[in-house]
Amino acid sequence: MNILNGQNLFDVAGKVVLVTGAATGLGEGYAHIFAESGCKVACADIQFEKVQETAADICSQGFEARAFRVDVTKQDSIRHMAQEILDAYGRIDVLVNNAGVEHIEPYTEVTEEHYDFITSVNLKGVFFVGQEIARIMKKQGGGKIINIGSLGSYIGLAESSVYCSTKGGVIQLSKTMSIELGADNIQVNCVAPGYFITPMTRPFYDDPDHRAWIESRIPLHNWGTVRDLAGPMLFLASSASDYVTGATIKVDGGWLAS
Ligand SMILES: NC(=O)c1ccc[n+]([C@@H]2O[C@H](COP(=O)([O-])OP(=O)(O)OC[C@H]3O[C@@H](n4cnc5c(N)ncnc54)[C@H](O)[C@@H]3O)[C@@H](O)[C@H]2O)c1
Repeated sequence: MNILNGQNLFDVAGKVVLVTGAATGLGEGYAHIFAESGCKVACADIQFEKVQETAADICSQGFEARAFRVDVTKQDSIRHMAQEILDAYGRIDVLVNNAGVEHIEPYTEVTEEHYDFITSVNLKGVFFVGQEIARIMKKQGGGKIINIGSLGSYIGLAESSVYCSTKGGVIQLSKTMSIELGADNIQVNCVAPGYFITPMTRPFYDDPDHRAWIESRIPLHNWGTVRDLAGPMLFLASSASDYVTGATIKVDGGWLAS
């Protein structure tokens, strides 16, 4: 019996990967991981100058990336970005639906403005970026979509009522997408990170009490680094996950196991 026929199932070289929210934090890290793995990376963000820096940094190391402007809350902007990527690279094999925002405040003080802001990026954005790219993948004969959840997809986090609502929604949306897109050879999965130090979570890290509370709940003790997300991301982007869809991989140092 020869099952792998010498194939490296995790090989993603040559794939075109779109990462939204690639200007900072985890999205910037994902862009580097895929570029270092031989992909052509479309780095998209509303912060265009910053995402240009991400792409320039990748290119300066001899890898392939280009920057694209997008506001994921606007369908016109999403369509424009998708067309620009097709003009540049001709296809999109993998979507990392990563752009997200958070605003910490008590449930009883959440304003309609804040509610709309968070849901429009974290849920509406994931929904319509996924829809636009799925249409392209259908025509291509397949693709991989990785939506980004959170601990807040599973548990309530104080003063994060809107964020947790959206992240719970991302997992439900991913399941539905996986069912509808399966026949088109598009696998849709989620990655749910625990706590990683980024501009979004820096305030928690810098607050000694909050930080101690977080670290007391992580069986592996330490905060994650973006390198800890590389394995799951490469798995879900590669043919190693061809029979995996509608799933969520928790990358949380064991938090949700307890
Ligand atoms: N950092 C963590 O510990 C952690 C944990 C769980 C989940 N996440 C999720 O990971 C993702 C990235 O988080 P991060 O910590 O890197 O945050 P971050 O704030 O560092 O990065 C978010 C990026 O999204 C971009 N963005 C925001 N609104 C946008 C819009 N309308 N259009 C396009 N881009 C937009 C921002 O410009 C920024 O570059 C988010 O979905 C977040 O919820 C992060």
